[in-house]
Amino acid sequence: MAQALRRVHHVELAVGNAKQAAYYYRKAFGFDQVAYRGPETGCPGRVSYVLKQGDIWLVLTTPLHHLDPLNTWLTLHGDGVRDIAFEVEDADAIFAQAVAGGAKPESAPADAGDARGAVRTAAIKAYGETIHTFVQRNGYPGFLPGFEIREIKGRGAGLTCIDHIVANVEDRQMDRWVTWYDRTLGLGRFVSYDDKDISTEYTALRSTVVASADRVIKFPINEPAEGLKKSQIQEYIDANVTAGVQHIALASDDILETIAALRRNGVEFLAVPEGYYRELWERVGVIQEDREAVKELGLLVDRDDKGYLLQLFTKPVQDRPTLFIEIIQRRGSDSFGKGNFKALFVTIEQEQALRGNL
Ligand code: FE2
Repeated sequence: MAQALRRVHHVELAVGNAKQAAYYYRKAFGFDQVAYRGPETGCPGRVSYVLKQGDIWLVLTTPLHHLDPLNTWLTLHGDGVRDIAFEVEDADAIFAQAVAGGAKPESAPADAGDARGAVRTAAIKAYGETIHTFVQRNGYPGFLPGFEIREIKGRGAGLTCIDHIVANVEDRQMDRWVTWYDRTLGLGRFVSYDDKDISTEYTALRSTVVASADRVIKFPINEPAEGLKKSQIQEYIDANVTAGVQHIALASDDILETIAALRRNGVEFLAVPEGYYRELWERVGVIQEDREAVKELGLLVDRDDKGYLLQLFTKPVQDRPTLFIEIIQRRGSDSFGKGNFKALFVTIEQEQALRGNL
């Protein structure tokens, strides 16, 4: 029987300055700092700060020595997601299954322990220079062995869990990665959008979502499609040099409160194009949120046959036009805001043009 992934255990970002990045994610997004690893805790070469909000664990890692290969990673890609780690029942079994399915190993199964217990981990290489670590917790309390508890309370912003994580892959590579996720990790094809769904006059993309059987893990995979001008996916690939994570969508149970808090904290969001709200209410019908508040906060709304969703996208969270964050609240909908893609593309293209990449 295929080995199942339970959930995304944590997302690790490689960053140039983890100390400052941790401050940004605490102050801007409301995360708590919960743990730390570095020279003071017996890890001389790297520092990692662990942040938590709801069920979301975010790890920020910086290499300290110039010979650490993570520096090469940072030179190529800039700050970004290096590891999407999964919590699993049996790290050895899923690692064996993934490798048999064609995954390249990153690190073989091994135990890591401290006085509180032992965790077993293994890792495989995924798209670009992203990896997937498998974490078999064995009831370990806290984050992972080797980390020291170092708590700094954040303000909180109502973020509850990771809803989905999106990959941008190179031209004509989407189907290959969809098949790869099926063969290695048993993530099946959930839904596809073609360039007729997601395009403007100028730029286009294709997207297929792979998901676990219980839909807890949802990974849309994008590739650029031909348009009159450069696809935003191609702009990402050019800036990131390889495939990589485009955005992490974080869920909220009260998106109006969450966005209001993030805006107060100075998080920069994409602006909704002129006229978006003129057609919106006709398109999505009745929603339980106050329409004026939705408009005031600049939220996006979309509806499918199961319900609706509210969402908003930040601007890139580093200077390269690569990783950004989405905030999402689902009210029955299990899609990804297709109806907003087109509306939003206009804004993304305006930003692209300002960068001279359109
Ligand atoms: Fe998304």
